[in-house]
Amino acid sequence: MSSLFDTYNLAGQQLSNRIVMAPMTRARVKDTVPSADMATYYAQRAGAGLIITESAQVSGQGRGYLYTPGIHTPAQIEGWKRVTDAVHQAGGRIVIQLWHVGRISHSSLLEGRAPVAPVAVPAAQTLVHAYDSDGQPAQVPVSAPVALDAEGIRQVIADFRQAAKNAMTAGFDGVEIHAGNGYLFEQFINGSFNTREDRYGGPTIANRLRLLLETVDAVSAQIGRTKVGVRVSPFARLADLHAFDEEEATWLALAGALSQREIAYLHASHLGTPDFQRAIRAAYCGTLILSGGYTHETAQQAIDEGVADLAVFGRPFIANPDLVNRLRHGWPLAEAGREAFYGGGAQGYIDYPVYSAQDSQRAYTSVRFS
Ligand SMILES: Cc1cc2nc3c(=O)[nH]c(=O)nc-3n(C[C@H](O)[C@H](O)[C@H](O)COP(=O)(O)O)c2cc1C
Repeated sequence: MSSLFDTYNLAGQQLSNRIVMAPMTRARVKDTVPSADMATYYAQRAGAGLIITESAQVSGQGRGYLYTPGIHTPAQIEGWKRVTDAVHQAGGRIVIQLWHVGRISHSSLLEGRAPVAPVAVPAAQTLVHAYDSDGQPAQVPVSAPVALDAEGIRQVIADFRQAAKNAMTAGFDGVEIHAGNGYLFEQFINGSFNTREDRYGGPTIANRLRLLLETVDAVSAQIGRTKVGVRVSPFARLADLHAFDEEEATWLALAGALSQREIAYLHASHLGTPDFQRAIRAAYCGTLILSGGYTHETAQQAIDEGVADLAVFGRPFIANPDLVNRLRHGWPLAEAGREAFYGGGAQGYIDYPVYSAQDSQRAYTSVRFS
């Protein structure tokens, strides 16, 4: 039986264990260029078998929030090089999550232009961190999007292809295409939202999967299929996306199509029932990475039961840079406050210490005598 701490061969790349650090936006980037602090942050967490970076927009149009990094300019590529070098020097492996937010954006981040989407319908009651009418950073309602035309769709695919190329230049071990959490690809996949009447929408499952699959194919042609992963979150229904007809059939069709393409992995959260989780497992023959609320015990159980090949930990990595060692040795975990999740500087970012028995002894002593 395999342990979380056993090595794993991910499409030819040897991972030192089966614990994956989740993609987590930390919104600490000035001017969209990865910083020296970011290199430190990821290197501190290089004990993970695999790090998936925070989302990085593939183009100016794909940006949806202040303080997130991009991977489409020379300065951004240089910034990421620092990150990949630091992680590799620390013995880790790292892939970048490629992102296009679609309609979840604001024109103040897009040089005054409207966000793009499959159809021109804004997400209700959805805020993004952008600029208000006084030019000040603020939570503002998303701007009304325009529908992508055929040329716009070709450009999105080209942007992903170029971003994947840039990721290789920046030294990444692979890329993860973000097709979850209510962003562009999920907007196309969702049958209740994507009512387009062309080859990229409407009731036909194949039409709604087309943009993602053409992007996967373009990125695979650019960097090789074994360097490509895809993330989905089927029943999360975030950002004003809702239930739709043939929902399970849609996700199973996607799992089957990705399986045929023999990419590096499928990364999923929000799979709903255990039965559906098993159905996805059956439909997808490659490496399946699952995420969402894992503890040491439940992650090991998922591997024991064959539900997942690799287990993702998100929030626990924020305050525990040495999470893998802590889990391995049963050491206590530190807790990160939510206020540290997004924005700010080094505090709550690169200042969490690794576990030390001495500190633990001190904590224990103070608890006993206080
Ligand atoms: C601060 C924060 C930022 C996140 N940013 C992203 C992101 O950029 N891309 C993404 O796919 N998921 C993102 N997520 C979701 C995580 O990848 C993960 O699925 C989630 O935290 C559940 O795992 P956990 O229970 O181990 O934390 C984020 C989660 C948190 C807490």
